[in-house]
Amino acid sequence: MTVPRFVDAKRQGRRLSVLTAYDHLWAGLIDATGVDAILVGDSLAMVVQGKSTTLPVTLDQIIYHGEMVARAVKRALVIVDMPFMTFQVSVEDALRNAGRIMKETGASAVKLECGTHQAATIRALANADIPVMGHVGLKPQSVHKLGGYRIQRDEEQLLKDARTAEEAGAFGVVLECVPRAIAAHITAELKIPTIGIGAGPDCDGQVLVTPDMLGLTGGFQPKFVKHFAELRTAATDAISSYVREVRGGQYPDDAHSHS
Ligand code: KIV
Repeated sequence: MTVPRFVDAKRQGRRLSVLTAYDHLWAGLIDATGVDAILVGDSLAMVVQGKSTTLPVTLDQIIYHGEMVARAVKRALVIVDMPFMTFQVSVEDALRNAGRIMKETGASAVKLECGTHQAATIRALANADIPVMGHVGLKPQSVHKLGGYRIQRDEEQLLKDARTAEEAGAFGVVLECVPRAIAAHITAELKIPTIGIGAGPDCDGQVLVTPDMLGLTGGFQPKFVKHFAELRTAATDAISSYVREVRGGQYPDDAHSHS
């Protein structure tokens, strides 16, 4: 998958599938399924680091995880998130940080949470031939300003934000937690693909956090998360069996011992 093919999928009416990955093991497994793109999201903070927001993720951390993922992927487009405060300080700072992500991870694109005020940043990255995906709607890096993880319903603003990303040179845009009718309207208005998460079925593609859709994550799950498996239960059962068999002396048996 390449950036031009990703964009072309919309013209061809082919829906795009995107999943997150944070390490080499899972990136290889996900890539082998034929998924279109793999996002090294700053959801890393919650999923891997056990933090309560995405804000603490650093540039060095996303590069560390991005490099492991990109090295495992043979087919899918690899997109790496720009963490909080790595693109907001100035256009020069954003260019330098996006450049580090591209050079040190081997990814093909970056993603950043954006509104109308990020136009110059997206334009500068695009002019430097760094493919940029925008992210509008619920922007987790703005959780304190938004007062929580809420559905975003201001249609005029959402459309303005998405249009700004497109006009500034973004090759796609994530729509997070937007009512399906608004997401459908934005999707119809844009030439670049919209990738929905909690934005209904009318986007050009979908993205989910992999451990959520595999049923690996514990605790609260938003309504839009479908469990395509129950791996938390499967893993807990397997680990409990191991503990029981080690304690009971059933493992290792002859079949798992060298004679
Ligand atoms: O960080 C992330 O995983 C994301 C997706 C949920 C879109 O931004």
